[in-house]
Formats: sequence, C-alpha cells, structure tokens
Amino acid sequence: MLRMIVLGAAGRMGRRVVALSEDLDVFEVVGAVIRPDDPRIGDDAGLVAGTNVLGVPLTSDVPDVEADVAVDFSSPGGTRRLVPQLRDRGVGVVVATTGLDAETRALLVDAARRIPVLVAPNLSVGIALLSALVEQASRALGLEADVELVETHHRNKRDAPSGTALHLAERVAAARGQNLEEVAIYGRRAGGGERVRRGEEIAIHALRTGDVVGEHTVSFGFGSERLELTHRAHSRGVFARGAVRAAQFLSGANPGLYGMGDLLKRALPSIET
Ligand SMILES: NC(=O)c1ccc[n+]([C@@H]2O[C@H](COP(=O)([O-])OP(=O)(O)OC[C@H]3O[C@@H](n4cnc5c(N)ncnc54)[C@H](OP(=O)(O)O)[C@@H]3O)[C@@H](O)[C@H]2O)c1
Repeated sequence: MLRMIVLGAAGRMGRRVVALSEDLDVFEVVGAVIRPDDPRIGDDAGLVAGTNVLGVPLTSDVPDVEADVAVDFSSPGGTRRLVPQLRDRGVGVVVATTGLDAETRALLVDAARRIPVLVAPNLSVGIALLSALVEQASRALGLEADVELVETHHRNKRDAPSGTALHLAERVAAARGQNLEEVAIYGRRAGGGERVRRGEEIAIHALRTGDVVGEHTVSFGFGSERLELTHRAHSRGVFARGAVRAAQFLSGANPGLYGMGDLLKRALPSIET
C-alpha cells in the first residue's frame, strides 16, 4: 500500500484525494498538510474530506512520518514552502499545483536532484491526448492557421490562464517553431481586436464561471474552415485518480524531473505524448 502525504489537504482537490483513499485499495493517507493559519489544524483529515475518521491530523508542516510519496494540490506559496521539506525527508512529489512562477520552477528543478518530482499541470489522460493532437494539427497547418485557445473554469480558480492552456499554447508554439512569449495575446479588447500578425499570433482566453471543472478548446482557423479540439472534465475525480496514478509511477522512480509524458508512455503507448 502506497503511503501518501497530501499537500493542500483541506482544499477542493486535496479533499478529493483524501476521500479517494477510502475507495481505492492502493494508497493510504499518512500526512495531510494545510496552511499554518488555517483554524482546522489538528482536525482529522478524513472528517474534513467528508469521509470517515482516518486518524491523520491536519498539520502545518510535512509530518515526520514514513511516506512513499506526496501529492501537492496547494498553491504556489504552498509548493515553495513545502517541497523543500519533502526534499529534506527524501519523499518524492507530484506537483499538481498550477500558476508556478520561474523561481518556484527552479526550486523544483533543484529538488529533483534529490527526489523524484513530477510536474503535472493537468493529470487527465484526455488532456494528454488533446495535447498530442494539438501538436499534430499545429505542425500540419503551420502559420496559416489562426490559433485561439479558450479555457473555462469555476469561479474560484485563482490563476489565469490555466496551467493547461499555457501548456497547450506552448505546444502549439513549439510545433510551429515559435517562442510563445513573442507571439502570445492574452484576451482581446477594443483597439487590439484584429489579428495584426495574422496566423503568427496565438491567443489565449480565460472564462471563470459557475462550477465548471475544466474545459479547454483549441481552435484552428484556416481558409474558410475551422477545426476545434475540445476536452471537458466532468468531475474533479478525473484529476484525483490521475494524481494517484502519478503517485504510483513516482514511488518507484529515481530522483529527477518528470512530466505527464513519462507517465503516459505507459497509459497510451501508441501515441507520441
Ligand atoms: N494538475 C491538475 O490536474 C489540477 C487539477 C485541479 C486543480 N489543480 C491545481 O491544484 C491547486 C489546488 O486546486 P483546488 O481547486 O483544490 O484549490 P483550493 O480549493 O484553493 O485548495 C488549495 C488548498 O491548499 C491550501 N493552501 C494554500 N496555500 C498553502 C500553503 N502555503 N501551505 C499549505 N496549504 C496551502 C489552501 O488553503 P486556503 O484556502 O486557506 O488558501 C486550500 O485549502 C490549484 O493550483 C489548481 O490549479 C491542478
């Protein structure tokens, strides 16, 4: 049985993962970390997740317990604070938190010299397939195509655009031999509405509405045609199960930096991820 520490255990995703330990026989939660100023410190992680008592208290730091792996669904600040603690204990981590800045990404690269670190801005298999298809379409259509990405998430999502939208945009840019930062447009407004650089621009739009779990559409406009590739996640369970799969992968891995592509080579061996 995999012994897992959950970072951000009282959040929407963290509670999902904790609750999933009751349904799946493959892992147990041995640590549950939340913000130091959260009044629920000391409460039982299972009860906070809406399931049974697990006997695992919510703590402000990585607890001193035997653990195989951690999954991080906290915040960029949480990742920065807690990954060094995992590194010092030799516990590998699946970083699912998005909106990481360059400094935090550098910290992960550094930690990966001592522990396995899998950075996964999206843990769904469908998104991995979408990503591969987007690359294929981008390469086939080249700079002739007007590429617009639209992502939609629930009203409480903090970062924008989503880590997945940025990943997809980077994949488009790389396939077309571009540097995303030089060609990205974030939203459009009056006076900047037209495609000045025609097909060279890659535009990214973020919608925040209701309880949408996560939707991504990449639209390719060329000639009098438009091709749209869309993925919709209907439940956060998709990501929680993906986190468990990633944790299983990581628990046997050597120190190093991994991505979803490494994991999906096993799940989808027939596609170029
Ligand atoms: N990779 C994927 O497939 C995937 C899927 C879904 C979500 N995500 C990402 O995962 C993250 C969490 O999403 P969510 O929807 O669960 O958000 P959430 O409900 O806000 O949960 C985050 C939890 O972490 C806590 N936290 C924040 N800073 C912390 C710190 N410094 N130390 C310890 N705990 C801290 C938050 O506490 P407070 O509320 O007190 O700040 C909150 O309880 C986001 O970055 C989201 O984009 C990734």
